[in-house]
Amino acid sequence: MLYDVHVELAERSYPIHIGEGLLDKVGQYALSSGLSGSCLLITDQHTQALFTERVTRSLKAAGVRVSIAVVPAGESSKSIEQLSNLLSACVKAGLDRNSFIVALGGGVIGDLAGFTAAAYLRGIAFMQVPTSLLAMVDSSVGGKTGINLPEGKNLVGAFHQPALVVADISTLDSLPVRELRAGLAEVVKYGIIYDRAFFEKIEAVREALAQPQDRALWAEIVGRCCEIKAAVVSEDERESGLRAILNYGHTLGHAIENIAGYGGRYIHGEAISIGMVFASALSVCQLGMEQQEAVRVGELLASLGLPVQAAELDWQALRRAMAVDKKTVSGVPRFVLASSIGKVSIGHEVAEDQLESVWSAIG
Ligand code: GLY
Repeated sequence: MLYDVHVELAERSYPIHIGEGLLDKVGQYALSSGLSGSCLLITDQHTQALFTERVTRSLKAAGVRVSIAVVPAGESSKSIEQLSNLLSACVKAGLDRNSFIVALGGGVIGDLAGFTAAAYLRGIAFMQVPTSLLAMVDSSVGGKTGINLPEGKNLVGAFHQPALVVADISTLDSLPVRELRAGLAEVVKYGIIYDRAFFEKIEAVREALAQPQDRALWAEIVGRCCEIKAAVVSEDERESGLRAILNYGHTLGHAIENIAGYGGRYIHGEAISIGMVFASALSVCQLGMEQQEAVRVGELLASLGLPVQAAELDWQALRRAMAVDKKTVSGVPRFVLASSIGKVSIGHEVAEDQLESVWSAIG
């Protein structure tokens, strides 16, 4: 059970390898994608204890010289301070233009290590080894890298595509249930934005998705998400249009994360779950999505153990947070909306009173 997905981006094209036990093959996959010499493996304290030894062994067996940099686990590591430490670690490890970086961990590590690779010597190669569901299906694919500022999330970054992605499904075993569920929000998103049959598949297997054990099923699910993301990114690498569909539910979702505190009351996928319920309710009013379809979205998310409302949050605070989102133009948020499950369009402005009344309705 091995899925290989190809991200087509001309000279920046790369493979995504998905399967069980792939941590032991990181070295050989790196070589087959043209990476060799020295690398800096960047990981966090949590992932280090679980997987670093295996990945290091595999890289060394492939003849790669490995240095390791460990940052504290959590969103707060996506900072200028950690970036600065990692750039110094690159120098200390003697990395040159032919060296590469290995990002081993979840979305935080992928974004931070990817941006370190983008910045060091004006850009060296890197590979993604995602170990969380969110990172496997979303953040490790597509080349968005970056860090946060005290003023907001992902405000500094670069598009820098990895040379390859290696997703070992068995790493999901060690993921806290809450994080597995949160990753499922992004999985559901792919069904809504691109593939109705995939949405229906998730509905059909929802019970099996409460656990990471069914390897074949998970590889298939992660594989399909990566195929969809690869197709979208291949068409619009720098988000001048289509790629924005990946932001379904994210306009409100980011605002929820922002006012509830990152990594706090709502982690990313949970905030996106509520955001997708909101976007689906807006879609009913704006694009004539059938009410029943919006109900299905909410029911699926709830049955996967995800929150679908956050009535305790103050609308005015959410609205202010939306106004400073990166994707907002002149203070007016633009929404990705669906005419039906599987079919979305971008750039919708919605009247203020409608935004507020839909928020009250879902709360
Ligand atoms: N996570 C959204 C994107 O990669 O464009």
